[in-house]
Amino acid sequence: MKRAFIIVMDSMGIGAMPDAGLWNDEGSNTLGSIRDLPEFDCPNLSRLGLFDIDGVGGGTGIFEAAVARLAETSMGKDTTTGHWEMAGLISGQPMPTYPDGFPEEVIAEFERQTGRKVLCNKPYSGTDVIRDYGREHCETGALIVYTSADSVFQIAAHEDVVPVEQLYEYCRIARRILVGKHGVGRVIARPFEGEWPYVRTSRRHDFSLEPPKATMLDRVKASGLDSLSVGKIYDIFAERGITDYVRMNGNEDGMRKTMDYARRDFHGLCFTNLVDFDSAYGHRNDAPGYARAMTVFDRQLGELLTMLRDEDILIVTADHGCDPATPSTDHSREYVPMLLYGKPIRGGVDLGTRRTFADISATVLDYLGVSQNETAGNSFLPLCAREPEEGRELLRLAAEARKGSYSPYSGFQVGAALLTKTGKVYLGCNIENAAYTPTVCAERTALFKAVSEGERSFKAIAVIGGKKGSEGAFCAPCGVCRQALAEFCDPETPVYLGTVAEPETHTLGELLPLSFSSADLKE
Ligand code: THU
Repeated sequence: MKRAFIIVMDSMGIGAMPDAGLWNDEGSNTLGSIRDLPEFDCPNLSRLGLFDIDGVGGGTGIFEAAVARLAETSMGKDTTTGHWEMAGLISGQPMPTYPDGFPEEVIAEFERQTGRKVLCNKPYSGTDVIRDYGREHCETGALIVYTSADSVFQIAAHEDVVPVEQLYEYCRIARRILVGKHGVGRVIARPFEGEWPYVRTSRRHDFSLEPPKATMLDRVKASGLDSLSVGKIYDIFAERGITDYVRMNGNEDGMRKTMDYARRDFHGLCFTNLVDFDSAYGHRNDAPGYARAMTVFDRQLGELLTMLRDEDILIVTADHGCDPATPSTDHSREYVPMLLYGKPIRGGVDLGTRRTFADISATVLDYLGVSQNETAGNSFLPLCAREPEEGRELLRLAAEARKGSYSPYSGFQVGAALLTKTGKVYLGCNIENAAYTPTVCAERTALFKAVSEGERSFKAIAVIGGKKGSEGAFCAPCGVCRQALAEFCDPETPVYLGTVAEPETHTLGELLPLSFSSADLKE
């Protein structure tokens, strides 16, 4: 059963986009501001290839995911715009903000439909607004409407004056009014209680703008597959295109709930948003806190990686930046990282810089076999999918080659099949010798046959071995063969081991990290 996991590290940008100046975000680099702090320790993200992405720097060149730097095509840098683009929707306009309050036409219509007057109507802090306008609200029954730097229409009301259900109904009224040019990202109910200066209650509720077109989630659901949401994905997509959801209480809980889903049998998408990076650290300019949260996430990511099944793919990405080291506490217009990992994916593939986050949606739909219709973006799979039959086919050929083994001294028979980039296969077996040391392994037999025929570039190799009379089984190449292969093959070259029934895919870079190569001999 094919499963695709997407994990959004909310606000984990990797450097200013070329148009960052339009947003006053020149020089912003969220990852750049935390990666050198002592609190930052992310070996799993690193081995997947976070530092091998275009423009990030500091990678080793050996990594296990297919990696890309994604630009945002939409004109925005907010959570909703970023996630919608990931799901295939490009937004031409930024979500509207109201630094001078909402226009008369909006307020008048809201007052008419609710039958209540409006107080405040400016950007305001949520705790200050109930202190400054709460009394008047309680005396007159007028609703406190306020906004922030984000695209939000917030309504505060005392629970004794306006029962919560009634407040939610007012939010729905506002939601219906705030469409088109006034389509704010969220309408938020902000109930409070008690005596002056009052306290907010936990019955906050967000009413998101509905995506204007079908998204990746709608497509997945419409195909009868599962579409699971962890954290605020459910709100960001206005509850649409989701078959099951869980809320979360912090990043760690979000990762635990993602792993709970990973333990279940489902077929489709599991989409997780980890909002703490943004809300608890990015906006609060807490760089050490951000770095520490990344370290904790990295540990949990390591755990999730071990739980992935043969037909799982995982995408780790972000929705915008929020550089904790710049004076701004707002989001930043940055590129985001994209790490695509799993058995079906060839590791070590650098996909470069891509034009849009929507490539994520295209990839997920492509992988799940769901039609893309209007959703934008291009799938990464043609560039990095592993051909699933390749491993089995080469192991079958290696098992054939093993029959030629000359191994009277060890009785251990090995076969290898080496595939060239032009699609030719060279076979080899081990050839032993009474003097022992001239013995040559199956892998080198295949490699030397090919090289002596003029071949220089190889796509994959399979090896199978075992005692004479036994079925072929898992046989890892010896160190000398690894070194010989490294002379002609890239670190991401797949090495298929195991049996035809149960192939195991490794890469040469994994088998021989930090290899000695011709590069070391350069002056
Ligand atoms: N052998 C191989 O052909 N390939 C390997 O990767 C490991 C070992 C052969 C060499 C020798 O003939 C026999 O297995 C026992 O070492």
